[in-house]
Amino acid sequence: MSSLSSSYGATAHPSLALVKYWGKLPGDGGRPEEANLPATTSIAVTLNRLMSRVTVRAAEHDRVTLDGVEAKVERFTPFFDALRARLASSVRFAVESGNNFPTAAGLASSSSGFAALALACSACASPDRTPLPPTVLSELARVGSGSAARAVFGGFTRWSRGAAAAEQLYPAAHWPELRVVVLKISDASKEITSRDAMERTRLTSPYFAQWVEDNAALALEAERALAERDLERLGTVARHSYLRMFATMLGADPPVLYWLPASVAAIKRCERLRAAGIAAFETMDAGPQVKVLTTEHYLESVLAALAEVGEVFTVCSPGPDAALDPPSNLPPAASPTTPLDPPTKSASR
Ligand code: DP6
Repeated sequence: MSSLSSSYGATAHPSLALVKYWGKLPGDGGRPEEANLPATTSIAVTLNRLMSRVTVRAAEHDRVTLDGVEAKVERFTPFFDALRARLASSVRFAVESGNNFPTAAGLASSSSGFAALALACSACASPDRTPLPPTVLSELARVGSGSAARAVFGGFTRWSRGAAAAEQLYPAAHWPELRVVVLKISDASKEITSRDAMERTRLTSPYFAQWVEDNAALALEAERALAERDLERLGTVARHSYLRMFATMLGADPPVLYWLPASVAAIKRCERLRAAGIAAFETMDAGPQVKVLTTEHYLESVLAALAEVGEVFTVCSPGPDAALDPPSNLPPAASPTTPLDPPTKSASR
């Protein structure tokens, strides 16, 4: 068991869904967010240049700071409780967490945050700092945030409808030429969380059942395209998935609309690139940011075109597994005065 003075650091990278998780299974009369099981199968890539970093210590009470600001601990309690139950531990956690990208702005910070947290907290609460197996970490991370189940793994992942854990389909080395250009449209936090928006969609959108039904074929098609590293096919199915996800959100009551004018400009810019024979397939999540799938081959043209419509925040490749700091090299706890370095554009090409 950890001593009060030891700290445990871990890093994880966000999971970008190509086929989206949007909506939870209703559960056995309980609240869907308690089980947090997905109504749709998602297929995703873990992004290397964006990163969450957490530092965890055993403490008197559970406590979390995000980028130096005290967070509402209730959001983390189901996750902490699941982890304690799994390890038969009563340890309480003091967490400091930071991202090298805007938090809660639709860049999947909860995926990387809870994946890193599952690793660091399980090391903190287990004897001899032994990490739990990745599938168990994925199950625990899921309790914090669904997409975090995928972010435990690097490379390419699948989280099947109703599954307790995600799984890795391929490591990052399967497709090293793949690039994801992250276009930052706004760094304001979203007005409605993905959790609340997906639940509103499930409960009120007349299109939700059709969205779920349609998902199985999209997931299968994405897996086939991924196996063949066929960007045209993968990009086409990724576009269907995100656009249909937003279609079901627009049908919610009240409707949910995360897009800004510059998001639409980026979508239209990608359309023009494709018409000119340049592979550029956009996707979006619960926020205005646009991520564009391309390959190393087309990157320069895609960057030049997208710079006209927004700020290219970084360029990612498929990234690694979530990782615990090595025991011999425990860093000091992240502090609000020492934020993570932002991703640099030059290192990403
Ligand atoms: C649009 O994983 O944030 O990014 O499970 O309620 O925490 P909770 O939701 P979250 O939702 C992610 C939604 C998405 C699509 C995706 O990542 O698959």
